[in-house]
Amino acid sequence: MATVEDHYEKVLSEVYSWMFGGFESGLQRNVDFIERHNLFPVHSRLAIDLGAGCGFQSIPLASKGFSVTAIDLDASLLDELKANSGDLSIRCIRDDLINFDAYVAGDVELVVCMTDTLLHLDSKETVDLLFSKAFSALQERGKLVITFRDLSFELTDTDRFLPVKSDENIIFTCFLEYEPETVKVNDIIYKRSDNGWDLFKSFYRKLRLSDKWVVDHLSLAGFNTIDANTENGVTTVIATK
Ligand SMILES: C[S@@+](CC[C@H](N)C(=O)[O-])C[C@H]1O[C@@H](n2cnc3c(N)ncnc32)[C@H](O)[C@@H]1O
Repeated sequence: MATVEDHYEKVLSEVYSWMFGGFESGLQRNVDFIERHNLFPVHSRLAIDLGAGCGFQSIPLASKGFSVTAIDLDASLLDELKANSGDLSIRCIRDDLINFDAYVAGDVELVVCMTDTLLHLDSKETVDLLFSKAFSALQERGKLVITFRDLSFELTDTDRFLPVKSDENIIFTCFLEYEPETVKVNDIIYKRSDNGWDLFKSFYRKLRLSDKWVVDHLSLAGFNTIDANTENGVTTVIATK
């Protein structure tokens, strides 16, 4: 069965920055997000970026003065992060993000898990485990920031075909198949070559977590204040210890 790790290696990591309009554009969105949500270091300055990818959150957080531990399974995305982070304080770890607590060397001020990374976990039980590990790792008033799409509502028929992005060289379409607890995400990418168009295809699964489920389970993990806001289909949750 295809794993998330295989899927990124096979198709997704190569086009990841491109999907966001290029590296600089993806970075700028997160610079804006971090400003908008006042994510500045005040206490231990330690931050953990879970599923850091190419560094869209790690780089702006380190630029604001956080000392960031960036964890991801994908070697190419971590290489891209390293190539773009200069002498910023970012330590890259290639491992499953659920093991993040093995790399924590003190009280953490901020944990981020953004852009659907939470939905890449294999089960709701693993999400619960992550919430309780994040709660334990955080200092008092420390924050866990999560962004994700609520996939609990089903698209039907041809609405399940989503045009992700295209330009003169790449056409990226996604097809969703709904399962009781997960969505099977089929990524279909055509790339222009000397012989015409080459097809690359692969799938992975994302968890179907409703906003309410996430908020309720953060509360069960012990978080005091939980702010949730949905804009353009993307939910941002900021949970404070
Ligand atoms: C949608 S990307 C988000 C990347 C980055 N946070 C961003 O906003 O651009 C999800 C990332 O999580 C990573 N990932 C997924 N499951 C993981 C796991 N169990 N452990 C570590 N990394 C994981 C993927 O390799 C990928 O880089």
